[in-house]
Amino acid sequence: ADIANPNGYDSGTLDYVDAMVVSRIRNQGPVFFKPMRDHHAVLQGVLARHPIEIIDEIAASKLRGRGGAGFPTGLKWRLAHEAEGGQKFIICNADEGEPGTFKDRCLLTRSPRDVLIGMVVAGFAVGARSGILYLRAEYWYLKDYLERHIGECREAGLLGDDILGSGFAFDIRIQMGAGAYICGDETALIESCEGKRGTPRVKPPYPIQSGYLGMPTVVNNVETFAIVSRIVEEGGRWYASMGTEKSSGTRLLSVSGDCARPGIYEIEWGMRLDEVLGMVGASRPMAVQVSGPSGECVSAAKDGGRVFCYSDLSCNGSLMIFDESRDLLGIIRHFMSFFVQESCGICTPCRSGCVDMLTKVDRVIGGKATKQDLEDCNAWGHLMRSTSRCGLGTTAAKPILTTMKSFPELYRDRLAVVDGPILASFDLEKA
Ligand code: NAI
Ligand code: SF4
Repeated sequence: ADIANPNGYDSGTLDYVDAMVVSRIRNQGPVFFKPMRDHHAVLQGVLARHPIEIIDEIAASKLRGRGGAGFPTGLKWRLAHEAEGGQKFIICNADEGEPGTFKDRCLLTRSPRDVLIGMVVAGFAVGARSGILYLRAEYWYLKDYLERHIGECREAGLLGDDILGSGFAFDIRIQMGAGAYICGDETALIESCEGKRGTPRVKPPYPIQSGYLGMPTVVNNVETFAIVSRIVEEGGRWYASMGTEKSSGTRLLSVSGDCARPGIYEIEWGMRLDEVLGMVGASRPMAVQVSGPSGECVSAAKDGGRVFCYSDLSCNGSLMIFDESRDLLGIIRHFMSFFVQESCGICTPCRSGCVDMLTKVDRVIGGKATKQDLEDCNAWGHLMRSTSRCGLGTTAAKPILTTMKSFPELYRDRLAVVDGPILASFDLEKA
């Protein structure tokens, strides 16, 4: 098999349907995967306005970054616009490495121009002339396809030295990743772009202060740039009319696992978990891993009423559904060994904590764990969360901590009663 293209996709036409796309948007048509009406006219409209007006439009949409943390995009761009110091850069984070997440791949395949135009808009708003699309190594097969779209944009005057005769210059290059999950972290990604080992930097300074080559740099996710294209086409208020007060608009979900209709779904923020599970045909769901291993593992029975929004289920774009036939502890073990392998190792809580947590899961699986092991998991997990340098370490204990909360019986049933009566006094629900 071709290691760069294991599924044998035809990057010449890319006419495969790699996922089912369903939209569930109240009173609106789909936002994504609907071709933008006219990139040329939309961009011309943007370039005729003042950069601050564009930033105001994005702020009015209440768009929050789709990489996961939900930082307000308008604010990020305003800070970058005001930042001083030489050349500025725009980076599109297409290092979609979170297990279970494949919606950016689908966006890049179906709507590459929306993503590219979103980057141009960002460049115009903050005063950058160069953009980098950082593509994960596993998406090599998309490189030629995206290069072709970039080339066509140049030919159409949508990229280059004098975009649509406006005098604004902006161009985009593709930078390939090398297969490291950690390069999804924006500062590790920047290091990688600079030709260095992908190791996260200490923040602050944030990239908008000191990013690529030490210059002010806006890093946004693929989905964020695609949404930006929609916002400049339809208006910030239109976008803010969808979703909830604090989580505006829509969200793409990569849905996989035990359900009748896996694929990519576009939902409006504010939908409940049980509504989504019904929509995708999950008939006997037990657990749902929201946002991949770095997210939360919730119980379908207890958490069905929870809502997709930044203050509740702030989903990074994926749902993995597991029914009762699945060995959840085995899955947790798999996730922990993933973090052990992907930790860059520069800070101790993460480097050591991931290994220690994996050891604890093995003790639980082997029937050797005691109450002390579970208390250690709880204490060390919180230590990792509060002292690790980047998102990998701060979230790596979540598979264990969230299953201890959602499925305490998983752990309780496996404890070894070797050091006295432990179960009566230890309440996992409160762990
Ligand atoms: P963060 O909260 O530090 O930053 C989020 C964004 O806002 C960054 O672009 C950062 O530069 C910017 N920012 C934050 N505070 C700022 C300030 N005061 N001034 C200017 N800019 C500021 O989060 P981080 O470390 O970038 O990402 C961690 C998040 O990533 C976690 O919340 C996790 O949910 C998510 N994550 C996403 C994954 C994915 O596959 N999308 C995988 C793993 C984690
Ligand atoms: Fe590296 Fe982990 Fe520290 Fe992040 S938290 S910098 S991945 S060791």
